[in-house]
Amino acid sequence: MAKKAAAPRPKRLRVALIGAGGIAGTHMRYYAKMEDVELVALADISEASMAQRAEEYKIADCFTDYREMLEKIRPDAVSVCTPNGLHAPATVAALSAGAHVLVEKPMAMNAREAQAMIGAARKHRRKLVIGFQHRFEPKTQFIKKAVEAGQLGEVVYARVQALRRRGIPNWGVFGRKDLQGGGPLIDIGVHVLEATHYAMGTPRPVAASGGIFTYLGDKRSSVVSQWPNWDYKTYTVEDLAVGQIRFENGAVLHLEASFAAHLEKDVWTFQIMGEKGGATWDPPALFCDDLGHMVNVSPGWLPRDSAADCFAIKMRNFVEHVLHGKPTGAPAEHGLMVQKMLDGIYESAEKGREIRLR
Ligand SMILES: NC(=O)c1ccc[n+]([C@@H]2O[C@H](COP(=O)([O-])OP(=O)(O)OC[C@H]3O[C@@H](n4cnc5c(N)ncnc54)[C@H](O)[C@@H]3O)[C@@H](O)[C@H]2O)c1
Repeated sequence: MAKKAAAPRPKRLRVALIGAGGIAGTHMRYYAKMEDVELVALADISEASMAQRAEEYKIADCFTDYREMLEKIRPDAVSVCTPNGLHAPATVAALSAGAHVLVEKPMAMNAREAQAMIGAARKHRRKLVIGFQHRFEPKTQFIKKAVEAGQLGEVVYARVQALRRRGIPNWGVFGRKDLQGGGPLIDIGVHVLEATHYAMGTPRPVAASGGIFTYLGDKRSSVVSQWPNWDYKTYTVEDLAVGQIRFENGAVLHLEASFAAHLEKDVWTFQIMGEKGGATWDPPALFCDDLGHMVNVSPGWLPRDSAADCFAIKMRNFVEHVLHGKPTGAPAEHGLMVQKMLDGIYESAEKGREIRLR
């Protein structure tokens, strides 16, 4: 009897992480569940952060210098999970060493760095994906489909809110402008902004204006809150950012993001208004005119549990993009547009005038 040909072994992606802190742990948890991924190395300036993760995921190779890791290990792909200031240098180094990159949000400190990252990906013919996950949420997909199907008509306005009443991180370097590029706008505003911009159909931003305010984070506080005792002495970012973006198609977007703001409660949502209908993200609903009435439409059921885990979808999408050429849901070009909007709001706040975005 003819011998059965052995099934081809699935290609395994050899993945390394640069940065082994909080979000790197989440990346590793998802990678570790994938049979076609092998975690091969970690790089972090903190040996303590690496030791714990290396033991948990049985990773033999740990480096305090990511350039040495890239040279010695030559991974197929890298997750960049460092503070924002390292996103561009670590990504460019990884791409230059022949690795595909999934870089955490925000893409970079500014659009100039983001552009350089895209240039490096093109030059070295490697894939570059941004770690945006909220676009993969079922409720974002529901609204995006409604926009694409024309149910909202021409989208004219979006309102983006990522507001914490008192949620200044008391870990990491989130209060350091030199290492992060900014505060709540670039750290949490970016999450809801990317999801909104994606749902709107990624129109090109052409102008930005805004203001940023710091009144609390840089002072000692004894107010009871979830994350007390942040490092107020090194706090150089804003507490609250507000901004307006104008798009090439004439639509306007308003954004509010805060680590600390005197409001009733935290808000994490967006709304889109079009000429024929509108939508809210949380809870997801559409508002339109039908049967001679104003009607509200909400999905009767949306996937939950693992099927709705947008982080899992983001990680799997990256691996399948690299291994099998599946289209990425979070291309670097989207990251660059988001970065331009963030830059524009910060620059406008500094200069006190509207900024043209190129
Ligand atoms: N997608 C999300 O939902 C999400 C959530 C949290 C954080 N993030 C992003 O992930 C990034 C990291 O955030 P975090 O919460 O994990 O922070 P963190 O402070 O927990 O971890 C950052 C790690 O980077 C390491 N690091 C610093 N400089 C380094 C260098 N030169 N080389 C190698 N490692 C270095 C630190 O030692 C630390 O272990 C940020 O850009 C943040 O915006 C994304």
